[in-house]
Amino acid sequence: MEKLCRVLILCLLLISAAHATSRRREAKEDEADKWFKSFSQQKQKFAKLRFYIQDKLGGPNATIWEVARAEITATSPTMFGQVRVLDDLITAEPDRNSAKVGRAQGHIASSDLTTSALTMNLNFVFTAGKYNGSTLCILGQNPIGSSDRELPVVGGTGVFRMARGFSISNTYSYDAVEDYGVLEYTVYVSYVDV
Ligand SMILES: *[C@@H]1O[C@H](CO)[C@@H](O)[C@H](O)[C@H]1NC(C)=O
Ligand SMILES: *[C@@H]1O[C@H](CO)[C@@H](O)[C@H](O)[C@H]1NC(C)=O
Repeated sequence: MEKLCRVLILCLLLISAAHATSRRREAKEDEADKWFKSFSQQKQKFAKLRFYIQDKLGGPNATIWEVARAEITATSPTMFGQVRVLDDLITAEPDRNSAKVGRAQGHIASSDLTTSALTMNLNFVFTAGKYNGSTLCILGQNPIGSSDRELPVVGGTGVFRMARGFSISNTYSYDAVEDYGVLEYTVYVSYVDV
């Protein structure tokens, strides 16, 4: 009898959890439906953003770490097959102590056998200013040996819903002793601000 009660209570708990989940989902869908309806009536907006990524490559507090490599990575001139995950600080100016704008999070893979190039999935997670809470997603090929590297912006969230665009990036500085790089990103993006 006691066992049956326990089973019944468990079932009730599961059912009410399922109801709460479905209510949450309905609320989210309502919000998305309303947004999408206004979206279809809005004009596109455009923004040009410039910020700096603090790429701390070495030391115990590095913000980029290798998670996998291939058998040939160690002998490859381009580190082919190396996969790294990063969570870099984004600042408003090149100085690492300038205003914090957000984080650049994602994973990058060395994916060119002959020239150094990365396949990037990079998410700009804004944590300050008018884009606080919004994200932009970069996905594409990054020929790291070149300057003015162009990458596509394939989407975004928050203010940047339905975003599209591209970014131009350059290495602003690199300190070999500290193994610390600063990358400059200029992002051109169109989006719909409902
Ligand atoms: C790493 O970060 C910790 C905590 O912020 C700090 O105390 C330490 O000095 C840092 N180490 C280096 C080598 O930067
Ligand atoms: C960004 O937004 C979060 C959540 O709304 C808020 O807690 C935080 O204070 C904001 N940060 C800045 C720097 O405005």
